[in-house]
Amino acid sequence: MEQTMNMSKTTAEPAFDVNSSALADRRVDGTVGKIRVDNPRMSTTDVDVYYGDKHAIQNVSLDIGQNEVVAMIGPSGCGKSTFLRCLNRMNDTVAGCKVTGTLLLDKEDIYDPKIDVVPLRVRVGMVFQKPNPFPKSIYENVAYGPRIHGLITSNADLDEIVETSLKKAGLWEEVKDRMDQPGTGLSGGQQQRLCIARTIAVSPEVILMDEPCSALDPIATAKIEELIDELREQFTIAIVTHSMQQAARVSQRTAYFHLGKLVEVGETNQIFTAPKHKLTEDYITGRFG
Ligand SMILES: Nc1ncnc2c1ncn2[C@@H]1O[C@H](COP(=O)(O)OP(=O)(O)OP(=O)(O)O)[C@@H](O)[C@H]1O
Ligand SMILES: [Mg+2]
Repeated sequence: MEQTMNMSKTTAEPAFDVNSSALADRRVDGTVGKIRVDNPRMSTTDVDVYYGDKHAIQNVSLDIGQNEVVAMIGPSGCGKSTFLRCLNRMNDTVAGCKVTGTLLLDKEDIYDPKIDVVPLRVRVGMVFQKPNPFPKSIYENVAYGPRIHGLITSNADLDEIVETSLKKAGLWEEVKDRMDQPGTGLSGGQQQRLCIARTIAVSPEVILMDEPCSALDPIATAKIEELIDELREQFTIAIVTHSMQQAARVSQRTAYFHLGKLVEVGETNQIFTAPKHKLTEDYITGRFG
């Protein structure tokens, strides 16, 4: 990051248009960088999203690989949340929202009319910006999903899933003696870890996180970031963040969005130290956004 902050590269050259032919030699499908990975868990091609007339996502193609954390960054309104929500069809719940293109989870088209969105959202779980525990006990917050999705055969099974999920979410030690107390009574950072425990309790394959730390203090944020790194061993993670430090700390690849387009994607280290696109450089050096 230090290198980024001290970047002395000249800004005299004009900003590239995303579609500028000047970048043709390093462009793949309109995006600078490598949009494909060898073993994609999710693979998206030519995704467009409209809210009525508003063209919020334009021709985005991006893979998310097994056991990797992909960070999505970019100025407010550039479409990060919109794109993230396409990955588990959360946009279906937004009136007037239309998604086109191809979005695959393990090579299966998640927009196929045969797909049931309820199990899809179990396979592709989501953690939101604001912790949103159910108005139920800590135990029930985690137990609810496995129970309604029929993932357990006995109460002992359920106890074990609850305990394991809370341990993976780094919350067990703090709550094991108060499992019957309301989840809403926990601190903000604890509530967010409870929501992560609730998400992983149903054994998802992919976890989507939309600014999961924006309501948290630095200590709670550090815990969640540590957790994300551990969860990567088991899950595929896409995280939207406004904190470039966070993107640098938790992700292996970073995708920079600008006005609905995916401008650049690459190894996180490369994006923050040697961005190829002028728009990426402007953003990460604080000249824009
Ligand atoms: N439900 C909606 N109806 C209409 N337009 C919407 C809706 N949700 C988002 N938009 C528009 O789509 C564009 C992308 O919004 P989105 O929320 O995806 O941006 P974002 O990158 O997540 O921004 P932020 O960093 O502020 O969260 C914006 O212009 C926004 O106004
Ligand atoms: Mg957003």
